[in-house]
Amino acid sequence: MSTDRLTNEQLFERAQRVIPGGVNSPVRAFRAVGGTPRFITRAAGAFMWDAEDKRYIDYIGSWGPMILGHGHPAVLEAVQRAVTEGLSFGAPTEREIQLAETIVDLVPGIEQVRLVSSGTEAAMSAIRLARGATGRSKLIKFEGCYHGHADALLVKAGSGLATFGHPTSAGVPPEVVQHTLVLEYNNIEQLEAAFAQHGAALACVMIEPIAGNMNFVRAAMPFMKRLRELCTQHGALLVFDEVMTGFRVALGGAQSVYAAAIPGFAPDISVFGKVIGGGMPLAAFGTSKAIMQHLAPLGAVYQAGTLSGNPVATACGLATLTEIAKPGFFAALAARTRSLVDGLQQAARAADVPLAVDSEGGMFGFFFAAELPQHYNAVMATDKARFNRFFHAMLDRGVYLAPALYEAGFVSAAHTADDIAATIAAAREAFAA
Ligand SMILES: Cc1ncc(COP(=O)(O)O)c(C=O)c1O
Repeated sequence: MSTDRLTNEQLFERAQRVIPGGVNSPVRAFRAVGGTPRFITRAAGAFMWDAEDKRYIDYIGSWGPMILGHGHPAVLEAVQRAVTEGLSFGAPTEREIQLAETIVDLVPGIEQVRLVSSGTEAAMSAIRLARGATGRSKLIKFEGCYHGHADALLVKAGSGLATFGHPTSAGVPPEVVQHTLVLEYNNIEQLEAAFAQHGAALACVMIEPIAGNMNFVRAAMPFMKRLRELCTQHGALLVFDEVMTGFRVALGGAQSVYAAAIPGFAPDISVFGKVIGGGMPLAAFGTSKAIMQHLAPLGAVYQAGTLSGNPVATACGLATLTEIAKPGFFAALAARTRSLVDGLQQAARAADVPLAVDSEGGMFGFFFAAELPQHYNAVMATDKARFNRFFHAMLDRGVYLAPALYEAGFVSAAHTADDIAATIAAAREAFAA
């Protein structure tokens, strides 16, 4: 059945008949901003085209993976070659070793990794590993951080400190989240109180070090330093969910940003996804050999996957990591991303619109607020109506931003200075509108 002549609206109607909400991942439905999702037909470099052949400058990049832009020649070539060799074997390949070696080389402190197919799977497996390795059950997560949709992680804060969380999804029994404690991001006092009460029972603390699921919020240095100290002191493992930040904010991930400011800093377990697959389903978790020995087939913590370490996905990931490891890549990407947020801020200022901005490497955030929020409630208190108007004004002008105020944005190496200038020009109009 051809879809050539259908509009976005018609495709959305058709999709909703056979796919719940018309989408295979909720944020794509535009529910937060209203309107019709764009159905994408193709992408190249920094651009995507929708079913009506309208072109957009893409600041989502498949929610992070497309750090080189769409259709990078080296990536396409690697994938095309891999496809001709075989789609999946269910047996080990040399490419899996190469990808594991690359991650181990690029991230100090990681000695071994296990490859999986999604960030959800990697985060869920990292928690099981932390529990298996420590023999403890409880975990801390932070409100506003998303770690995929495993049951134990779909939790919001309870009514007060040191109460365990409530499920944020139907279908998650309260007993399943009874070991998940949810704290406010960047709140040292709460962290200390939680450790004082539950420290000996805590298997791990999982955190997005630079949160990208409540727009863009950094864990403050003193908070991260204290978190590391408390984990070490109480024997809880510090798990960095770098599904979004890994190989995106810096070649060594967000942990390299914290290590640069906090001497000797490293998390205990790291979780990766998105960029390591370069746009194919691939994710990983890794840590020291000693902790990884707990995993099957060596240890008692079970974890497996039919398509784990898939030969086409590993080819795509390896080609992507090879490109981003080239000298100067991150300096150029960070400068381009900074030029975008600085330009947005200047355009907002000229229109007398309060806008707070931040970026690290190729990831950015902007808030309709006077100051950068430090935690989830502050993010949700920023001006939603204004964000939604801005989003649609930009979309009309051919700029595709994340369709919700609680999502971060991404710049790729394919975004040129002209693309950034065009985006800022569109923003100038959108702020004035
Ligand atoms: C920080 C973080 N962790 C985990 C996940 C889940 O990854 P996936 O969607 O590949 O399951 C995401 C997805 O956006 C994420 O941003």
